[in-house]
Amino acid sequence: MIKLNTKNSGFSEAELNSVKDQTLAAYKTLMDRSGKGSEMLGWLNLANEYDKDEFARIKTAAKKIQDSSEVLVCIGIGGSYLGARAGIEFSFGQFANQLAKKRGAVEVYFAGSNISSTYIQNIFDIIGDRDFSVNVISKSGTTTEPGVAFRLFREKLEEKYGKDGAKDRIYCTTDGEKGAMHDMAIAEGFDRFVVPNATGGRFSCLTAVGLLPMAAAGMNIDNVMKGLADATKKYDNDDFASNDVMQYAALRYLMYKNGKAIEILANYEPSLMMFGEWFKQLMAESEGKEHKGLFPTAANFSTDLHSIGQFIQDGTRNLFETVIWVDKPQAQLEIPNDPENVDGLNFTSGMKMQDVNKQAMRGTMLAHVDGGCPNIVLNLDELSDYTFAEMVYFFWKSLAVSAYLIDVNPFDQPGVEAYKKNMFALLGKPGFEDMKDDLENRLKEVE
Ligand code: PA5
Repeated sequence: MIKLNTKNSGFSEAELNSVKDQTLAAYKTLMDRSGKGSEMLGWLNLANEYDKDEFARIKTAAKKIQDSSEVLVCIGIGGSYLGARAGIEFSFGQFANQLAKKRGAVEVYFAGSNISSTYIQNIFDIIGDRDFSVNVISKSGTTTEPGVAFRLFREKLEEKYGKDGAKDRIYCTTDGEKGAMHDMAIAEGFDRFVVPNATGGRFSCLTAVGLLPMAAAGMNIDNVMKGLADATKKYDNDDFASNDVMQYAALRYLMYKNGKAIEILANYEPSLMMFGEWFKQLMAESEGKEHKGLFPTAANFSTDLHSIGQFIQDGTRNLFETVIWVDKPQAQLEIPNDPENVDGLNFTSGMKMQDVNKQAMRGTMLAHVDGGCPNIVLNLDELSDYTFAEMVYFFWKSLAVSAYLIDVNPFDQPGVEAYKKNMFALLGKPGFEDMKDDLENRLKEVE
């Protein structure tokens, strides 16, 4: 369960209430489905509308992957990648792969989110001669990074298992009706899962996009969907004071209006590192438009207190933190006593590490507030399959309200196209020939 604490935000009740009407209007726009991009609201009531037959097929496919493979390679980028990885680490921690066998699951490696040969070769080496399967995920079916990675992994599968054997180990998650990958999956007879039309990229991780890799990694996807259903109910409420989605969106808006430019999602559990990456994509790709929006970043404490902590405490004063605190860690280790006290740390003897972590969090919170960096705290009871979905829905809905508050369409990403066009022209992709000479000339001047 998530509990929001806004007492350190630096805004009074009256200040918060000053944006109540605007926030309620943004909330209503979302719930009425009358705002920009409202055809992309499939995630809003996904808990009650998802395809139950496909859900059952996902479980069967995950079991088949676990029975036939030690490794699953998941190929995708952006919204077709980050949620699954965030979910697996949220539930099982950063060593999810090293501990996969212990929980009877497969190791899951993610490819297709960069264009590095070294990265892919490393995965080939990790797989070695072990059995593996591939889940390629792309809504459009034409994205370059996953497309290139899929060619490489498909070749490996065919070398090892032959064309027919490979076919049995490829799972395609893509558009249900069209696209290069959809057509290829049908032509080749790959197992197919659908990215629903109204549930795009960064809003898709609780569909087959994320559920298949999460289930293969050992997450209980019934619990995931239960977390989603409960969060959907919990935040379906137009009372400004009690709906944390509106409280958080209103505070983000106030921060933005009062000169804050950067939101740092800070955590005190390394298991949340990838959740920070997921958050960055969700917020940046949804809000950063028309020269507006908060720049989202993430910090992992206490690690980063010894690096960017300096800046947060004392650098340019245009940032605030949203801190995730987890009440009950998955492990509880106690600090041993040293009769000699050679390191002078006996003041911690017998303490739980979580208690030390908590004092680090409490001390940091006050220090950062004193330094001019306010914070909003999200208290989470535990890290589990259930709370992962709860967190995802909380951020989805808060983000949508936030985006409507600054009047941008949260569901498109026009800015992502600019680099792609240039890359295609430089690579000589048909249809982009006109741009190539001009780009090469400009590059001559700067390279
Ligand atoms: O959130 C988004 O829409 C994007 O990040 C996409 O998920 C990303 O570009 C990958 O697209 P696709 O699934 O079509 O390969």
